[in-house]
Amino acid sequence: MKTLAVVSRKGGAGKTTVAVNLTLAARAMGVKAVLADADPQRSASEVLKGREDGASLVFETSAAKLFALMEASRRSGAELLVIDTPATPEQDVAEAVKIADLSIAVARPTYLDLAAAVRSVAIVQRLGRDGVIVLNQCAPARRRVEPPQVVKACEALRFASLPVAAVALRNRVVYQTAFAQMRSVLELDGAEAASAEVRALFAEVWRRLRGEAGAPVRSANDDLGEVGAHLGAARMAAGPGLTLAPIA
Ligand SMILES: Nc1ncnc2c1ncn2[C@@H]1O[C@H](COP(=O)(O)OP(=O)(O)O)[C@@H](O)[C@H]1O
Ligand SMILES: [Mg+2]
Repeated sequence: MKTLAVVSRKGGAGKTTVAVNLTLAARAMGVKAVLADADPQRSASEVLKGREDGASLVFETSAAKLFALMEASRRSGAELLVIDTPATPEQDVAEAVKIADLSIAVARPTYLDLAAAVRSVAIVQRLGRDGVIVLNQCAPARRRVEPPQVVKACEALRFASLPVAAVALRNRVVYQTAFAQMRSVLELDGAEAASAEVRALFAEVWRRLRGEAGAPVRSANDDLGEVGAHLGAARMAAGPGLTLAPIA
């Protein structure tokens, strides 16, 4: 079993959105995934517990109980445990990072989110774990040209030599609609673009978790030379078995 922690030292960055959609994408793609809701606000549980499969999908927990939950998930045959974490306290975030094979630091391409992502990655690196930044709520690329805000964010992260996932999530209202219906974007009609990017992100994360496709964590230095070509679906399309919709 692999364990994935979804972190950000900032509320509203998109941790719960990423955690819930990746968990449900995993299940849709045949990976037995469960979600640990370690945030006392219980947003992930709020979204998922009313589902038919809710009882076998989401588990409310705390930082102190995470390790036991991880062992129980492993014993029950889960292949992936996704941990949704609170923004604070740092100690609780660290507990999740410690037991995770990979941590995702979610950040919108804004100054404050990026500053928080840098702090999140610092925790991951201090604990000697693997981590990668996933950009969320990015404005859409136009004809594969990234908007200036995304370009600037990538330049800043590249300057800091921080690892960035090749797949970014765009700002799309369907992420909000899906939650209101206790669903992932994969389960919504008319959400093909969102669904494609979540599948691509899951594929990238799953490969990193399994140590496939080169180094589990790729540095922004070698990968984001031309931001437009790297931050979208184009790069993922080269992966095995993936067919992706073009960037909206
Ligand atoms: N890519 C996105 N596009 C549109 N809305 C988003 C996106 N990601 C998150 N949101 C919205 O932003 C808000 C905060 O997201 P959430 O995942 O709850 O953040 P966090 O868990 O980090 O506090 C929610 O209302 C969510 O629906
Ligand atoms: Mg949350």
